[in-house]
Formats: sequence, structure tokens, C-alpha cells
Amino acid sequence: MKIAILTGGGDCPGMNAFVRSAVRSALHVLPDSRVFGVLDGWVGLLEPKYRPLTNIDTAGINRLGGTILGTMRAPELAHIRELQDRLVRNFLEAGFDALLVCGGNGSLRAASTLDRLLRENGTERSILFTPASIDNDVANTLGTALGFYSALTRSLEMMEWIRDTASAHRRVYLIGSMGRSSAYLPFYAGIASGAEYVIRPSERVNFEAIADMVEARDRDTRIIVSEAYPKSLESIRAILSDSLERRDSRHEIRTVDMGYFQRGGEATVADVIRANWIAFHMVQCIREQAGSGFFGAFHVGGPPNRVPLEDALKPSANHDDIPRQMIEMALALR
Ligand code: F6P
Repeated sequence: MKIAILTGGGDCPGMNAFVRSAVRSALHVLPDSRVFGVLDGWVGLLEPKYRPLTNIDTAGINRLGGTILGTMRAPELAHIRELQDRLVRNFLEAGFDALLVCGGNGSLRAASTLDRLLRENGTERSILFTPASIDNDVANTLGTALGFYSALTRSLEMMEWIRDTASAHRRVYLIGSMGRSSAYLPFYAGIASGAEYVIRPSERVNFEAIADMVEARDRDTRIIVSEAYPKSLESIRAILSDSLERRDSRHEIRTVDMGYFQRGGEATVADVIRANWIAFHMVQCIREQAGSGFFGAFHVGGPPNRVPLEDALKPSANHDDIPRQMIEMALALR
């Protein structure tokens, strides 16, 4: 049995824990198997570029950020049929029986396409996918993505650091957060760090009310701005500066972007344990010849939530905005 492992989309903490568990679970549960890492994400299946993986190759990487297999974006895979066919051809030529993938939305689409084309070709294989994205925007009703809790931890640290300067200088900080069009990362980072306000991607923001809030505060104000909010940090700064000037405010405004730093660093325990558990579970599914599937996990108490890949692709499987009650809670706890 030949098993391939692939990490796709934006790297995030938890991917290496997934790779380590996939390799070790496979070699333990299926002792006759050989395990290969696909290098640089889906590009590695197109080129093709693989490398054999053993227990030794995965030693000490449970908490390591990034991905030892590498990853590259390959958006053209979504619409170029010739590339999709090449994926299938290379996969079969390599003699892979199963593919274990963690990644973002593009990777879910690629995994599902590969699975479908293999089936249409009469050459069905096990294509197993779990979300790994700091944005937590991949079928998040079915489970929280690997990397999300780690990115929150990183954001929390940065939010605490910036408070020192904000407070010392009586400043407002407009703090950019990744998250693409999802509110999850900025909003949860706001709750965890006690930020004064989070601007969600599709929010109709009342800047005058924000200026009133700033004026009512003694020293620091930290406002997180979602990546997909249509105004830049600089233009929000200009609007707020204007409002504060009209109030003869003593508060200054500065901008800073957490951006790529949110994606780096060590994986948190929650991500390590969930990554370990999901990859182990995938290998059990290969042993039981259970077929392809999407694996999400809210917690580690039970088996991961397993659904067909196509179900995870349905728009209803993902919500980008935060439940109203949670927004009320965040406002109440400021
Ligand atoms: O991994 C998801 C994400 O972090 C998004 O929040 C962000 O828009 C994007 O990746 C940036 O990706 P890239 O590394 O391709 O610039």
C-alpha cells in the first residue's frame, strides 16, 4: 500500500503535527505500507515531486510551524481541466492508494475534484481531507480548522504587546488581522484579548460611535480590522482622526498589521492533539477501506466528524460571520 500526504494552501501551525501523525499512524497501523510526502502542495502532484517519509523524518515536529513538505498556491487547478487530468494521471502513475490532505478551500476543491475524476475513471482511491487554515473558513460548521487556535494564540500575544505602547501613549491602534472574508480569526482574537472593537468584513461601521467610544476611554483603545473589510487601515485612520479632531481629542491613532505573523510560530496544544487524532483516524479509514471523506473535529472526545467531500463544499457548510449572540457578548465584555 502506498500512501501520500499533502499540505496545501497557506501554511499554518498544526500541519506538521498532521504529517507526523499520518506517517507514524500509517507505518504502525498498516506495517506493509510506504508513505510519501508530496512536496509543495498540489504543485508537487502536478510536477510531480514526492519524497519517502519515515518516523525519523517526522521526529520533533509536532509543534513546529509551517510545513516540512512545503506548500504553494495553485489556483489554476480549480478551472483548467488539463491540469486536473494531469493530477489524476500522476496520482495513478505513482501507484498511490490513498491521499491524506490538510489545507484550505482550494485544497478541498482539488481533493474533491481528484476524488470525482478517479471515480469517473473507474479507479477509485481514498482521498481524505481535513481543513487547515488560520481563517477557519473551510466548512466550519463541520469542525474547526487546524491552525485556527494557534493563530489565535499568536494574535493574543501581539494584542497584549501592543497594549503597552497604546496605554503609555494614550493611543488608538488599528490592528489588521488576516481571516480573508471570514470574521472568525479577527473576532475571536478580539474576544480573547479584550479588544475594544472588531470591524467585521461585511459590517456597516458607525465611525462616529467608535470615536465616541475612544473619547470615553482613558488610555488605550485597540480596534481589530478584518482583512476583507473594504477600507484600508490608513483610510480608517483618516476617518477616525477627523472625528477625533472634531472632539478635541488627546488620543492619537496608529496602524499596525498582525498579518503573516498570525500564521507563524508553534502550534498550540489544541491543534497538535486534533491534528494527531484526525490523521490517525484517516489511517483507520484506509485500513477499513471506508472510502474518501472530509474530516472535521470540534473536540477530541469522539471520532472526527466524517462527511462526503461534496457535502463539505456546499455553501451551507460554512458561515463567515459570527452568531449575533456572540457579538452581543463581545460588546458586553469590553
Ligand atoms: O492562509 C490564509 C491566509 O492567511 C489569508 O488570511 C490571507 O488572505 C492569505 O492566506 C494570504 O496568503 P498568501 O500567503 O498567499 O499571501
